[in-house]
Amino acid sequence: MFIAIFTDLLESVHRIGENHQNIPAFQNMLLNLSGKKILVTGIANNRSIAWGIAQQLNAAGAELGITYLPDEKGRFEAKVKELTAPLNPSLFLPLNVQDSSQIEEVFNAIKNQWGQLDGLVHCLAFAGKEELIGDYSATSADGFARALEISAYSLAPLCRHAKPLFSPGAGVVTLTYLGAERAIPNYNVMGVAKAALEASVRYLAAELGPVNQIRVNAISAGPIRTLASSAIGGILDMIHNVESKAPLQRTVTQKEVGNTAAFLLSDLSSGISGQTIYVDAGYCVNGM
Ligand SMILES: NC(=O)c1ccc[n+]([C@@H]2O[C@H](COP(=O)([O-])OP(=O)(O)OC[C@H]3O[C@@H](n4cnc5c(N)ncnc54)[C@H](O)[C@@H]3O)[C@@H](O)[C@H]2O)c1
Repeated sequence: MFIAIFTDLLESVHRIGENHQNIPAFQNMLLNLSGKKILVTGIANNRSIAWGIAQQLNAAGAELGITYLPDEKGRFEAKVKELTAPLNPSLFLPLNVQDSSQIEEVFNAIKNQWGQLDGLVHCLAFAGKEELIGDYSATSADGFARALEISAYSLAPLCRHAKPLFSPGAGVVTLTYLGAERAIPNYNVMGVAKAALEASVRYLAAELGPVNQIRVNAISAGPIRTLASSAIGGILDMIHNVESKAPLQRTVTQKEVGNTAAFLLSDLSSGISGQTIYVDAGYCVNGM
């Protein structure tokens, strides 16, 4: 009798501990995003990191909303629509983050069609090509303002509009690069923008955490050939440097970044917020 009561007591203490910490039970540990509604920004083409992320979120069972950057001839819209059709996105919307009415419309659509948001992927950046070569001191005031507005500031209004729609435990993921912390040749103003973005992640994590356990994190990806990175002077040298020096002796793929984004938007990462997670084949640990 005493042993039975003691065993019951132990089990109930164990259960209270599990409930208190809200840790997924062992049988639910596999990554599963079924039932989660996630907005993915920043797909331009099949090389985009956001495309790798969208594919892995879809593979894990998430329902996706996709945004594209509208242009006069509708080229991005057509390309992104065709590319993402196999993932059956339930929302497909234009979004230029410099246009506040477009931001509002995206979140109105989420409110009306989804009623809630479980994840937000901010995977966009821009700097003029002339700012991404040569001396940082040559950066123009307009170029600086535009790079910072699109690449760093934009995370704040997206989170502001998402805040009332976020479900408990929802997550935000943005993309950054080592140039935020180290001087990388030609990365210039984009490094300054990424430093601002990483600081924004910490402030947003502090703001949104108390609101229903919402988490905000950044992935610092190694260099990958994409439309945006092709504007950086010497991007191929950056990639070759990583291939020869990174502990894994290679650079990373869009899908590897996508896997980490899926983890950060899942319940498996419930204790992680305000962090920059490196998906760079280990390159950032090198001393030289
Ligand atoms: N490629 C790399 O080596 C690398 C490494 C680390 C981090 N990143 C970051 O990953 C993210 C995605 O870049 P990518 O390399 O996949 O290139 P990409 O060109 O495929 O994606 C950049 C996206 O930004 C979007 N964009 C630009 N201006 C915008 C605006 N005003 N409003 C809305 N969207 C806008 C573009 O439409 C495009 O979809 C960026 O934040 C980039 O800095 C890239």
